[in-house]
Amino acid sequence: MSGTATLARCLGAARTFGRGAGATVALQPTDCEVLAGEHIAVVGPSGSGKSTLLHLLAGLDDPTLGAVEWPAIGTRDELRPGPVAMIFQGPSLMPPLTCEQNVALPLVLAGSTDREARERAGESLARLDLAALADKLPEEISGGQAQRVAVARALAGTPRLILADEPTGQLDHVNGAAVVDALLAAADHAGAAVVISTHDPAVAARLAVRWEMHSGRLTTSAASEEATAWSR
Ligand SMILES: Nc1ncnc2c1ncn2[C@@H]1O[C@H](COP(=O)(O)OP(=O)(O)OP(=O)(O)O)[C@@H](O)[C@H]1O
Ligand SMILES: [Mg+2]
Repeated sequence: MSGTATLARCLGAARTFGRGAGATVALQPTDCEVLAGEHIAVVGPSGSGKSTLLHLLAGLDDPTLGAVEWPAIGTRDELRPGPVAMIFQGPSLMPPLTCEQNVALPLVLAGSTDREARERAGESLARLDLAALADKLPEEISGGQAQRVAVARALAGTPRLILADEPTGQLDHVNGAAVVDALLAAADHAGAAVVISTHDPAVAARLAVRWEMHSGRLTTSAASEEATAWSR
């Protein structure tokens, strides 16, 4: 397998929170990799380590053992803004900024001019059918719309790897399906890999690869029949 196709890789990566008797092993030593263009579901009970693993793959947290690498991207300093985008569990838009400003902010922080950032933010919102919300504040839109704006923000920087932590967790099935539709369509448009943690079997079934977590242990499996049927 070509190393250049590996976007992110855990090499015996583990994460323990706290020390001594009060320590929690959130992730046991784990080997896994995300290849270019892959669609991966991370499933498992609450507290099994899904968010911990996604944060390590995003380079937002350090393993306490082992290592995380991004062979096709570069060093941890090169992940953001740009190649790796994270969609967080729960609301993440900045309340005082409009939807368009929220989507544009990472681009401005990455060095785009205000005008360029606004243009790209507008395009990203339009791709997710959210152009009408550009000037609204987060408090003026629904939870499902806010999740889609967060997807638009993640995609505006044309990432190669999108890590989405329960992006449908607070939504009903219809809104959840709309968010996943938008995420997969936009990811495919950009040729990006997606890793989605989810409690929703219907979401997991739409992704070709399944990672299962139990008590901080990861087991991986190939495409389920259901997922294969979806991708046909
Ligand atoms: N910052 C932290 N400090 C201490 N313990 C933590 C911290 N973050 C996570 N943990 C613990 O690590 C374990 C794994 O948590 P994690 O958030 O990764 O689970 P999860 O699978 O994402 O759960 P959920 O489905 O509820 O989001 C849990 O026991 C949790 O309590
Ligand atoms: Mg979580």
